[in-house]
Amino acid sequence: MRFGHFDDARKEYVITTPKTPYPWINYLGSEQFFGLVSHQGGGYCFYRDAKMRRLTRYRYNNVPTDSGGRYFYINDGGDTWTPTFMPMKKELSFFECRHGLGYTQITGTRNNLRAEVLYFVPLGQTAEVHQVTLKNEGSTPKSVKLFSFIEFCLWNAHDDGTNFQRNFSTGEVEVVGSTIYHKTEYRERRDHFAFYHVNAKVSGFDTDRESFIGLYNGFGDPDVPSAGESKNTIASGWSPIASHGLDVTLAPGEEKKFVFVLGYVENPRAEKWEKPGIINKQRAQQLIAAFSSAEQVSAALGKLREHWQGLLSSFTLESGDEKLNRMVNIWNPYQCMVTFNMSRSASYFESGIGRGMGFRDSNQDLLGFVHLVPERARERIIDIASTQFADGSAYHQYQPLTKRGNNEVGSGFNDDPLWLILGVSAYIKETGDYGILDEQVPFDNDPNNAASLLEHLKRSFDHVEKNLGPHGLPLIGRADWNDCLNLNCFSEDPNESFQTTGNRTGRTAESVFIAGMFVHIGPEYARICEYKAQPAEAARARSEVAKMERAVLQHGWDGEWFLRAYDFFGNKVGSKDCPDGDSKILIEPQGYCVMAGIGVATGEAKKALDAVKERLDTPYGIVLNNPPYREYHVELGEISSYPPGYKENAGIFCHNNPWVMIAETMIGRGEQAFEYYKKIAPAYLEDISEIHRTEPYVYSQMIAGKDAPRQGEAKNSWLTGTGSWNFVAISQYLLGIRPEWDGLCVKPCIGKEVPEFTVTRKCRGATYRIHVKSTGGTGQVKLTVDGKPIDGVIVPFAKPGSTVHIECEAS
Ligand code: GLC
Ligand code: GLC
Repeated sequence: MRFGHFDDARKEYVITTPKTPYPWINYLGSEQFFGLVSHQGGGYCFYRDAKMRRLTRYRYNNVPTDSGGRYFYINDGGDTWTPTFMPMKKELSFFECRHGLGYTQITGTRNNLRAEVLYFVPLGQTAEVHQVTLKNEGSTPKSVKLFSFIEFCLWNAHDDGTNFQRNFSTGEVEVVGSTIYHKTEYRERRDHFAFYHVNAKVSGFDTDRESFIGLYNGFGDPDVPSAGESKNTIASGWSPIASHGLDVTLAPGEEKKFVFVLGYVENPRAEKWEKPGIINKQRAQQLIAAFSSAEQVSAALGKLREHWQGLLSSFTLESGDEKLNRMVNIWNPYQCMVTFNMSRSASYFESGIGRGMGFRDSNQDLLGFVHLVPERARERIIDIASTQFADGSAYHQYQPLTKRGNNEVGSGFNDDPLWLILGVSAYIKETGDYGILDEQVPFDNDPNNAASLLEHLKRSFDHVEKNLGPHGLPLIGRADWNDCLNLNCFSEDPNESFQTTGNRTGRTAESVFIAGMFVHIGPEYARICEYKAQPAEAARARSEVAKMERAVLQHGWDGEWFLRAYDFFGNKVGSKDCPDGDSKILIEPQGYCVMAGIGVATGEAKKALDAVKERLDTPYGIVLNNPPYREYHVELGEISSYPPGYKENAGIFCHNNPWVMIAETMIGRGEQAFEYYKKIAPAYLEDISEIHRTEPYVYSQMIAGKDAPRQGEAKNSWLTGTGSWNFVAISQYLLGIRPEWDGLCVKPCIGKEVPEFTVTRKCRGATYRIHVKSTGGTGQVKLTVDGKPIDGVIVPFAKPGSTVHIECEAS
């Protein structure tokens, strides 16, 4: 069942009923100021850091769900309603939500009054614009009251939700004309404030929540809108809000627009005050002046559209498959950009206070967005590398506001260091900017202890090599990519975190997955060393990689598939020999080892992928492990804590499905790769939205697996490495176009189902028009470049400004 449709021409998803199976959200903002907005107007916004600088309140895990947002209440002759449906839930004669790239427009009609609310963050601004357009579609004049509503968060979202003994007494506001200023804690150490403004004369305002809503009411039955009269309250302690009251008269057919600006301002400490106790509002006024008219709003929206048009033009696909086109051209890159901005911090499943930017996550995200914004990828790499420790290990996360490693989560995830090498190599292949390797980058943010980025990569590489276990495979540490494989945790205490607890110390638990990563990523490091004229180091790296490959085939091969790990006691994890009730096969090493090329020539790769097909494939995607762990295993940790079929215990953990897709292309099975692709690509799941439940335009981290009662139901949409890895899989391996060290590789492997397609790829200033005829999925290709046949699959990089025409026959 569908709840809307794609509008590809406008690059929007159009939701046509408020009653979707779950709130379907969108993101606003692309640089410093961000917002989340659901199809019912729910959500919140923040400046840079969803924990430390939250502007508005949102209630996670609330009843009803999706509580808190930027709401507009209309009182039309005593009938009070909200055009976003929530929170008043009054019947609407028309409802539509258009989620576009960086903006959302929600329209509701009732009693011949059409109310359209447009939400976006203008480029370069630290503000959200909410434009409300009211139109009288009836034949008699209307005189209505419009009330805006937002509830302020007292900045630190964690503190805001816990420290009530203090917070009920600190709230402060100022009101001047049509602008409400939120200045809680500005009197002391904060140099920042927020404001909510409307470009019209107000008939009243409110800033005290209890007065506006009523102590025993909810957002769905607030006092002031129902009474039709603002109370002009000034918040003092308790919960500050901002509400404007507007009287609006509309002749039949008449339309009026109101521009609301929700802004964030920082003042230099010396310029905080206009006079004692009164905020210096100069900077706020500039922001207000920039959006005081509907013309300014439409110009800013136009710029935002152009911005996205420009970004998305670096990789475009024309094929006969409209679902594939919309994934590749619009929604997958869009999700990659959002994930780049948010990492795993703020979504409807991530509270914005739990996690910062992940070291491993952000490096992988980079793979999906580096071609869109290479300059920002560069900055991201330096930020991430600056949190690395001198021994090559890494903080698992860092806070975006301070860019410092997060002590609470700490270090010890032994896959982390390698992802940095992968991120850097992807960046250099895209840009040719080898100069980044010479950047001086601190360790642990200590400016007195810095080294070149190249040296950071060396330490990443060495960290693996210096931490090998009894089988010559890498020690897993706290966990590897699979956060839940906690082989040194041994926790019997529910008050301990699986991720940060290590009750046993030993150098025995090993990861075959990290070994696969090392074989996949190590050669990238070697290639970088060669470029930096360090042939001896390159040779050393290559020989370590070869050694690791041998160790995998010797100790990491189970006969029909790759083992997952050795636990603390040296027992196999993910083996045919594991007892019944335990998992016998896990997905990660199958995908990753084959991606690394292990066993491709000698047959293990094919066997492993056949085992994936036989044991892990389901109608909704490939599950992580099978069978699921039936009981909690203290020696395995969190993986065995989830009920069978969910999350890392046999859920379809979408992030690793593309590794299998890529692996399938490594052995020339493009058709199989494409089949796996379509199983989890959201546009292909639109018709089963009632089962899938999350947004049909973005990937979710997890879909419940075949052992779960709710098989096929997705969770954790938006912020997941699934976005970038699927973009890598489809664009670089199935469509087959990726920058390599010396040129653009063109090697499609997708099969007959996409018999013909054209990709336009911009890279290093040149444009490549690649026309492909695909008669088979074995990965065999013949290339003609500007009319001349060439050998191999690498098209040398062309001069900036030039256009290269490539004809490709893929069979
Ligand atoms: C989550 C984490 C990611 C991890 C994955 C598997 O998505 O963000 O870092 O690799 O779970 O546990
Ligand atoms: C839990 C989740 C995993 C996530 C981790 C983050 O372990 O299962 O997916 O990566 O928490 O801390």
